[in-house]
Amino acid sequence: MTIQQAAEQADARTAAKGQPGSDPGASVPMVAFEGAGKRYGPSGEGGFTAVENVDLTVARGAITGIIGRSGAGKSTLIRMVNGLEATTSGKVLVDGVDVGALGEDGLRGLRRQVGMIFQHFNLLSSRTAFDNVALPLEIAGVDKAAIRAKVGPLLDLVGLGDKAGRYPSELSGGQKQRVGIARALATDPKLLLSDEATSALDPETTQSILELLKRINAELGLTVLLITHEMEVVKTIASHVAVIDAGRIVEAGRTFDVYTNPQHETTRTLLAASLKLPEWLRSSIKPQPAAGDRVLVRLVFFGETAFRPLTGQLVAELGSDVNILAGAIEEISGEPFGSLVVSYSADPDVVARANRFYAETGLSTEVLGYVA
Ligand SMILES: Nc1ncnc2c1ncn2[C@@H]1O[C@H](COP(=O)(O)OP(=O)(O)OP(=O)(O)O)[C@@H](O)[C@H]1O
Ligand SMILES: [Mg+2]
Repeated sequence: MTIQQAAEQADARTAAKGQPGSDPGASVPMVAFEGAGKRYGPSGEGGFTAVENVDLTVARGAITGIIGRSGAGKSTLIRMVNGLEATTSGKVLVDGVDVGALGEDGLRGLRRQVGMIFQHFNLLSSRTAFDNVALPLEIAGVDKAAIRAKVGPLLDLVGLGDKAGRYPSELSGGQKQRVGIARALATDPKLLLSDEATSALDPETTQSILELLKRINAELGLTVLLITHEMEVVKTIASHVAVIDAGRIVEAGRTFDVYTNPQHETTRTLLAASLKLPEWLRSSIKPQPAAGDRVLVRLVFFGETAFRPLTGQLVAELGSDVNILAGAIEEISGEPFGSLVVSYSADPDVVARANRFYAETGLSTEVLGYVA
């Protein structure tokens, strides 16, 4: 069965269940993990479970981030979407189609509809930028004239119209990733997967690649699923996020909600690493207090709390002991919020007074650690 036939069958099934008059495609998420798991090696002794029992949906047209530490299972999870890794339990559906049920032909069809970009770009060094972008079209048997008509505009789209004849060794990292993005778009996919696409790039180049992905998402309506270990990446472009730890999804939701009010320890740790703290402060944070230490707390202001003079009240509550160490007003998906990093005595009495104040005012806070 080809992916087209599979997709038609899936659509027919959804329509058969369906609400009269509704668009059957609209209710199906672009990607659905249903109890999906991956075990490498033998089952039982000697094997390793990299991804376990993941239930997660990726909304159509959105940019969704999956964040986790190194070894958490991010690459394994994203490679299950285009069948580069087979699930060993549960299933993954792409646009309603069970990836595990596809044969060779079906998988080839799926990979035309699911583009992918990589940390190290994976370009062929013996081919020019043009010929790298043309490769998936050649494989799909597209004729030369149609390839020429397709590749030029794609190189223009990613800002490399003048680099068509350059080889990868003549391009910067950011330019190579732009070639990778154009290649991933060559077959008009409906889903783009990104495995740490900006991890090998400097901060400025990272921003420009993220801007490009945002523009492609908005202009082409392409769904994007990206994995990263950096909260900054998620915060910059993803409207939704899932946090993966040791192969399991520990938290998921709107990026704004997860970033302003993280629930899981892993999320808090990833988030603390992304805060723009001065280096002297970052390097002196300890997980446990010693006598006389100060507690370091992140206060987050959004919605109703953004408009109240709570910092002044906190200072009044704790006496002159509060130090303000960093602060910023930012936004996620257009929603603004403020955050402030403060320190005060870790003395249990002071901490109890502060916590009472947070509870009464509804201020969102997290302890980042302790400093001398
Ligand atoms: N082919 C394999 N055989 C056995 N174990 C594997 C295999 N591939 C990955 N693993 C293990 O599965 C776990 C998850 O690996 P994965 O590459 O998915 O992590 P990741 O979150 O992408 O990490 P990173 O951020 O370092 O890229 C790791 O402990 C890894 O050692
Ligand atoms: Mg990885």
